[in-house]
This record gives sequence, structure tokens and C-alpha cells, in this order.
Amino acid sequence: MTLPDSEAALRQARVVCVANQKGGVGKTTTVISLAAAIADLGARVLVIDLDPQGNASTGLGIRIEEGEPSTYGVLVDGDALRAALRATSIDGLDLLPSSLDLAGAEVELVPAFSREHRLERAIAEVLTEYDLIIVDCPPSLGLLTINALVAAHEVLVPIQCEYYALEGLSQLLRTVDLVSDNLNRHVRVGGVVLTMYDARTNLANQVVSEVRNYFGDLTYTTVIPRSVRLSEAPSFGQPITTYDPSSRGARAYQRLAREVSFRMELPVQIPDETNLERLLGSSFTVPATDTDRDDRIAPAQETDA
Ligand SMILES: Nc1ncnc2c1ncn2[C@@H]1O[C@H](COP(=O)(O)OP(=O)(O)O)[C@@H](O)[C@H]1O
Ligand SMILES: [Mg+2]
Repeated sequence: MTLPDSEAALRQARVVCVANQKGGVGKTTTVISLAAAIADLGARVLVIDLDPQGNASTGLGIRIEEGEPSTYGVLVDGDALRAALRATSIDGLDLLPSSLDLAGAEVELVPAFSREHRLERAIAEVLTEYDLIIVDCPPSLGLLTINALVAAHEVLVPIQCEYYALEGLSQLLRTVDLVSDNLNRHVRVGGVVLTMYDARTNLANQVVSEVRNYFGDLTYTTVIPRSVRLSEAPSFGQPITTYDPSSRGARAYQRLAREVSFRMELPVQIPDETNLERLLGSSFTVPATDTDRDDRIAPAQETDA
């Protein structure tokens, strides 16, 4: 899909916030991998790191010190967003980085004027410069996540294929409703993506069907497999699409990138339309686990050891 120049100039970024107040469900991994895969399709993408942990920043190879231009200055001091942006090593992918000082913003913003609208105002100046702005939220429903919800057109919710996958989600959905009733009537949950799927466990399949029952068509067809390569990539400061482009994790996020681009009508070239139709037409695509020898499968319970 190519727009005439005049239309392209008027086009504004789709703003998506990736949220789930649970930690460790794959928010940051999804932000980094999806952003890189969509930039690879030719879209102009901005990642906003809204988590004081700064994992999206370091995962994209950018580590900043406290005091350097960052999300903190933009939200708390009203610094210009443009001055804080960094180009990443991926063509078409920029980053607004964060560092630990952002943790203070949650408290410092409480008495601030129009505290919920800080991010929305900050991104207004670059909306025509990107096709997609994707915000990595911290694992809480505090003021930082509220800022993301107020700035966003839609919420993408990663859900880990694990015990209690749906627990706590009603709180997130309530928060989205509250924001939509009071602060941004457009925001809604626009998609759900299942992460860390391990075909060897019955539990994972159970979670997949529960989520599909509950969220229906909002659930993306692509399911992200649990994969060691995906967990290794951040320590090399690279998205999976660069670190190991042929791994199962990379291929899954590339597939998700096509689905997301299609649903959000992003101006990208999707290489093989027939494949996409096949992909979107099938009700349930889970990754193969035993046919791929290029990629080891992480143990399902690695965090419990
Ligand atoms: N599909 C996956 N397979 C294996 N490890 C993963 C996968 N997705 C994320 N991880 C790892 O799990 C941990 C939590 O993921 P992360 O994306 O940081 O979650 P969140 O941002 O929700 O806290 C990280 O160490 C990450 O590398
Ligand atoms: Mg994170």
C-alpha cells in the first residue's frame, strides 16, 4: 500500500501501548521485536520506553545515564521529545530511552498540571513523522501507564501462556475503561498476543483456548513460542530479528508484525499476500516446536529453578 506524497505527509502515527501490570509476561520483548520487524517492513517506528527499568532501551542497544535526555525529562520537565530521541541500529526505528530516574516520575507527577496528558502532548509534535509509535509500559497501573493509555489509540496486551494467565486482567480492562470514560474516549484493547508458548505442556494449550474464548478475534493468530534465542537477544542489545533472524522467535514476531500491520493498516509492503491470507484465515497457528533444530527450547519452568 503506497500513499501519494500529500497523503503520506498528513498521515499520523498509530499509537499503541503494550500493557499488562504483571511483570515478565513479554511486554518489552514484544515491543522490541515487533517494532524492529515492522520497521523491517518499511514503516517508520518510534519506541517509547516508559519503564524505569529501561529494558526496551538496553534491548535496542542504547543505555543512558541519569540526567541525559530521556522519557523522564520529557514527562516531568516538559523537555522537547525530539531532542531526546535516539536512532537505533535498525533502519527506520527510533527510541525515546528511559533510565532509573523515571521511577521518580510516578510520584513527582502526582501534583503536576495535566499529569495524565504529559505523554500525549509530548508525542503530538512527532505524530506525522512516524507510522507507528509503540510504548513499553512498566508492570503497574500507575501514572506512567495512565499516560500511555491517554496517549494511545489502542492497547496491545501480551499474555504469557502460564498459570494464572488471566488473573489481574480485569483490573487492566477496568483501567482501560476508566481512561476511555474520562480521559481518552478512543482508547480500547485492540489486540492480545499470547507469549512464551511451550507446545510440550497441556497448560499452554489450555491458556491459548481460554484466551481465545475470552478475547475472541482480538487475539492475534500468531502465538509467540518460548525460545532461548529470544531471551538471549537483549544482552546483545539487538532485537531478535537482527540477533537471529531465522530463529523461531524471529519468525513468529515477523508473522505478528504482518498481522499487526494489516490490522492497523500501516503503510508497509507485506511480501507475500497469499501467505498472509492463509495466516489470517487459520483460526489457530501455533509454532512448531520439534521440527526446528536451529533453536533450542527454553525449559518451561526456568524461572522456578
Ligand atoms: N518468547 C520468549 N521465550 C523465552 N523468553 C522470553 C520470551 N519472551 C520474553 N522472554 C524473557 O522473559 C523475561 C521477561 O520478558 P519481558 O519481555 O522483559 O517481560 P515484561 O516486559 O512483561 O516484564 C525476559 O528475560 C525475556 O528475555
Ligand atoms: Mg518490561
